Amino acid sequence: MAGRELILTNVTKRFGGLVAVDNLSFHVREGQIYGIIGPNGAGKTTVFNCITGIHPCEEGSIKWCGEEIKDLSPHQVVQRGIVRTFQTIRLFGQMSVAENVMSGRHIKSSQKLWHGIIHTPTSKKDERENWGKVFEILDFFDLTEFASSTVGSLPYGIQRRVEMARAMAVNPFLLILDEPAAGLNDNETQALIQTIYRIREQGVTILLIEHDMDLVMEVTEYLTVINFGGKIAEGTPGEIQDNPAVIEAYLGSDDDE
Ligand SMILES: Nc1ncnc2c1ncn2[C@@H]1O[C@H](COP(=O)(O)OP(=O)(O)O)[C@@H](O)[C@H]1O
Ligand SMILES: [Mg+2]
Repeated sequence: MAGRELILTNVTKRFGGLVAVDNLSFHVREGQIYGIIGPNGAGKTTVFNCITGIHPCEEGSIKWCGEEIKDLSPHQVVQRGIVRTFQTIRLFGQMSVAENVMSGRHIKSSQKLWHGIIHTPTSKKDERENWGKVFEILDFFDLTEFASSTVGSLPYGIQRRVEMARAMAVNPFLLILDEPAAGLNDNETQALIQTIYRIREQGVTILLIEHDMDLVMEVTEYLTVINFGGKIAEGTPGEIQDNPAVIEAYLGSDDDE
C-alpha cells in the first residue's frame, strides 16, 4: 500500500455561480510539512472544508491512503486520522483546558460512547487512559499549568495552543492547520514553529494555510499557491518566492501581508 498520502485531483467546488476551488490538484506526502498560500478569498479554507467533509466538492477526487474520501462525513474523515483546526478559534469557552483536550479523546473513541453511558469497567479503564493521554498532551503543549483554567478566560495565544492540543488528542496522521499563526505575536510565532517541528517528529504529516510569510518560508517544505481557486504555482519556498505569478498575485491583492 502507498504511504499515508493525500492526493487531490482536479477538485472543483462551487458556491452558486462562484467557483471557490477551480480544478485544483496537489499531492501531500507522508511526513511532509506542506503549505497552501494565496491572497484572501483565494479558496484556501474551502479546500480544507472539502478535504474534511464540511463542504463536499462536486468534482474531482480526494484520496487519502489510497481511499476516495470526498464523499465522507466530517466524522468519518476524523476517524481516518485527518484532524483540523479552524481559522477562528472553536473551543468550549466555559470548559477547562483539560476538558477541551479531553473532548478530542472522545471524538476519537465515540464509537465506544455506549461504554460511557453504562459505565462498564472498560469505560473506567478507557477514561483513565484518556486522562493520562490528555496530561501528556498538555505537557507537550506547555499547558499543564492551565489544565483547570476556563478556556474563555485565557489569552488568545494560549487558546490557540489549546486548539492544537485538542486536535492532537485525536491522534491524527494528518494535521490540518488553518492560519495557526493568525493573531500571534513574534515570540508566540517562533514557539509555534518549534511546535510544528515537534509534531512532525511524532510522525504526523502537516498541511497548513498561513499568511505569515516568515513562518511559511521557514517551516514548510513544499507549497501550492492558489489564486481565484486555481493553482498558480507550486514548489519549495525558495522556488516560490521569486515566482513572478506569485508576486503578481500578492501585489495585485489588497492583502498588506
Ligand atoms: N459557505 C460559503 N458560501 C458561499 N461562499 C463561500 C462560502 N465559503 C467561502 N465562500 C467564498 O469562496 C471564496 C473562497 O473563500 P475562502 O476559501 O474562505 O478563502 P481563503 O480561505 O483563501 O481566504 C470566497 O469568495 C468566499 O466568499
Ligand atoms: Mg481562509
